[in-house]
Amino acid sequence: MNSKAAITGVYGYVPDYILTNAELEKMVDTSDEWITSRTGIKERHILKGEGLGTSHMAAKAVEGLLAKTGTEPAEIELLICATTTPDYVFPSTANLICDMTGIRAVGSFDIQAACSGFLYALTIGSQFIETGKYKKVVVVGADKMSAIVDYTDRTTCVLFGDGAGAVLLEPTTEDNGIIDSIIRSDGSGQNHLVQKAGGSRYPPTHETIDKRWHYVYQDGPSVFKFAVKNMADVSAEIMERNHLKGSDVAWLVPHQANKRIIEATANRMGLGMDRVMLNIHKYGNTTAATIPLCLFDYESQLNKGDNLILAAFGGGFTWGAIYLKWAI
Ligand SMILES: CC(C)(COP(=O)(O)OP(=O)(O)OC[C@H]1O[C@@H](n2cnc3c(N)ncnc32)[C@H](O)[C@@H]1OP(=O)(O)O)[C@@H](O)C(=O)NCCC(=O)NCCS
Repeated sequence: MNSKAAITGVYGYVPDYILTNAELEKMVDTSDEWITSRTGIKERHILKGEGLGTSHMAAKAVEGLLAKTGTEPAEIELLICATTTPDYVFPSTANLICDMTGIRAVGSFDIQAACSGFLYALTIGSQFIETGKYKKVVVVGADKMSAIVDYTDRTTCVLFGDGAGAVLLEPTTEDNGIIDSIIRSDGSGQNHLVQKAGGSRYPPTHETIDKRWHYVYQDGPSVFKFAVKNMADVSAEIMERNHLKGSDVAWLVPHQANKRIIEATANRMGLGMDRVMLNIHKYGNTTAATIPLCLFDYESQLNKGDNLILAAFGGGFTWGAIYLKWAI
């Protein structure tokens, strides 16, 4: 019998500095009332410090994961990092994380699928376990969104925060682990949520900086409509094809972009909000880190065998869902 891949450990890290709605009120024309009612966000953590990038937070999450699971760096056979805010265009942030955590001479690479990045990375990582190629794979989702957010643009700066979360994947022959996965994309959504400059199409110039093209641009309402439909549809689809009713699902683990999008998804799945992991009020949207940070925050409430649906939506557009049975 082929093994399935199971999450056998989870760890999260957010930086110390807390950016509150009250502080944002002093920076842009916004209010705690607007941010809370439209998004559900109260505060977010921001990484401060010269020369610290996404790898700093990701390495903290991976170090915590190795310590918690009693795993030596030398046992790890592959590390995948999902991020949209890599330290550099190259080398990859995954390479840097391995260097910082003592994981030597193994395959490591980044995967970029914006807010769906962790679902994509988990799907990829699980294949290496299922085929029998590797026995210990680390998947980390990490983003320093504060590096690309324009703190003069009230339509985006209230939404995002920084953080990292990591999981260990190992084989299991029990009736637990990752059972099904759907990943999707539609590049025709590229102009609605984009960092226009800094890549090969518009390398950074004085002009791109003046136009503020190195920051996140988002057409919020268009993204909102697409997100509500696709996150709900893909969650319903993965339930249907695995013959799951709402009452079979212990937890929805949604990407944390907007509380209203999460509520619409839960509603479509027939779940009350008491079975939805929610930490958007504390962290905002940490892009690839939202789902592992949810698992880390809610771990004490999870039981072995619980049916979890992970669902995400993000720039690209990208979206997807994973059905897993909690294995620890
Ligand atoms: C960004 C978002 C919260 C905006 O909420 P919304 O209800 O769509 O609000 P709108 O963008 O229509 O703006 C409504 C009004 O609030 C204003 N507004 C926008 N941001 C504001 C802020 N931070 N504070 C106060 N007012 C704000 C707008 O300018 C607009 O004013 P107008 O009516 O005078 O033009 C919402 O569109 C959203 O969550 N989008 C999807 C985000 C997402 O999922 N991204 C995916 C990343 S993974």
